[in-house]
Amino acid sequence: MNPPYARIADLSAHAGQSVRVRGWVTHLRSSGKVAFIVMRDGSGTLQCVLVKSSVPADTWELFDQLTQETTIEVTGEVRTDARAAGGFELGITALELIGSSPIDYPIQPKEHGIDFLLDHRHLWLRSGRQRAIARVRHETEQAMRDFFYERDFTLVDTPILTAAIGERSGLFATEYFDEGTAYLAQTGQLYGEAAAAALGKIYCFGPTFRAEKSKTRRHLSEFWMIEPEVAFNDSNDNMNLQEEFVSYVVQRVLERKKPELDELERDTSRLETVVGPFPRIDYTDAIKILESKGSDAKWGDDLGAEDESLLVEGHDRPVFIYNYPKEAKAFYMKENPADPRTVLCDDLLAPEGYGEIIGGSQREDDYDKLLKRIHEEGLPVDAYGWYLDLRKYGTFVHSGFGLGLERTVSWICGLPHLREAIAFPRMMNRLRP
Ligand code: 4AD
Ligand code: MG
Repeated sequence: MNPPYARIADLSAHAGQSVRVRGWVTHLRSSGKVAFIVMRDGSGTLQCVLVKSSVPADTWELFDQLTQETTIEVTGEVRTDARAAGGFELGITALELIGSSPIDYPIQPKEHGIDFLLDHRHLWLRSGRQRAIARVRHETEQAMRDFFYERDFTLVDTPILTAAIGERSGLFATEYFDEGTAYLAQTGQLYGEAAAAALGKIYCFGPTFRAEKSKTRRHLSEFWMIEPEVAFNDSNDNMNLQEEFVSYVVQRVLERKKPELDELERDTSRLETVVGPFPRIDYTDAIKILESKGSDAKWGDDLGAEDESLLVEGHDRPVFIYNYPKEAKAFYMKENPADPRTVLCDDLLAPEGYGEIIGGSQREDDYDKLLKRIHEEGLPVDAYGWYLDLRKYGTFVHSGFGLGLERTVSWICGLPHLREAIAFPRMMNRLRP
């Protein structure tokens, strides 16, 4: 009977036993009498030892056909070895070549330019660093879903093809049968608001699209956003929820993905301090701080990346900037009764210069004010009829926010650019692979 298949991560359950492991060759070396094959199977890496004198001649000879990325199946005994990565090595008794790999594998252990790596993203994903990022991203997403699940939010999946737009930034448009132009969703929020009147606390989590002609390290044209919407939360409740959410997610990743963060050489002491409360700075005060730091930001402007960096200087956790001027923000934000030049909103800025990770607001719940804002922004009123209905049939105070997944993952992992935070990034100049 053949030994059972085992995943490298599960080898501790097989110490002293014979198993079969399938995966890809990552490193090879041989002394002529003993050969070492380091392989990965997606769950971990394993050093396998092939001893010339203890295997049949054809098994030993097969070693010469191996190259980086060859797919193999090895059979052997799981041996405890404190020096080995993962704590085990495999003493090979049988070796099978499943899929060969020519020696011109493009990604080599040397410096490659970023465009070269992105052109080979389908292969680059196999590297240790990219695997670590993928795992942190997965944990981040799962933590986010668990956070809302545990708090009895209902997940509502919102459409990607839409007729009305949500944000000011660029749109991807496509023909939609006889209905005219459809736009790829920039946000699920407007639909989330409708669902909040049905279910109270909801969130949506999906891909969102912005045709922004910006080639910055913080912009993708396709990114994932998680957007909760809560009936009867005001702007202050909304910031409390963001604080609790971000702290939960960061601490959960720290707890469960320490080896991956170490692989990425992330200074995790900079994440340990990410617990509420987060400082809250009124926009008008933020402008004063910026002026004192020599920025030329003026009251009325939205804040740029440099200003965001200046504002988080000296803070060891995210910082809220709240109540921006109306003209700097989207049409749906609620006018601030205490200062109608501003709206009840917040941006949450990550520390260490990672910039805005969340945009949130209390929504305009007054029918006439919202209609006026739609006119002022030159938006087509008929496309917002259903959205206005939410203020006609039982209006309610409500708030929500959108957190950008890739920006958050970049910050947690300490990545200089968003493009590594998603498996296949979409940017202005990149649609392939
Ligand atoms: O501030 P934004 O535009 O807010 C909204 O879309 C609201 N409708 C959210 C809501 O209230 N439900 O975007 C929210 C977040 C930003 O803070 C940022 O993290 C991310 O989405 N984001 C981007 N991430 C990557 N590439 C881009 N081009 C992004 N644009 C926004
Ligand atoms: Mg924003």
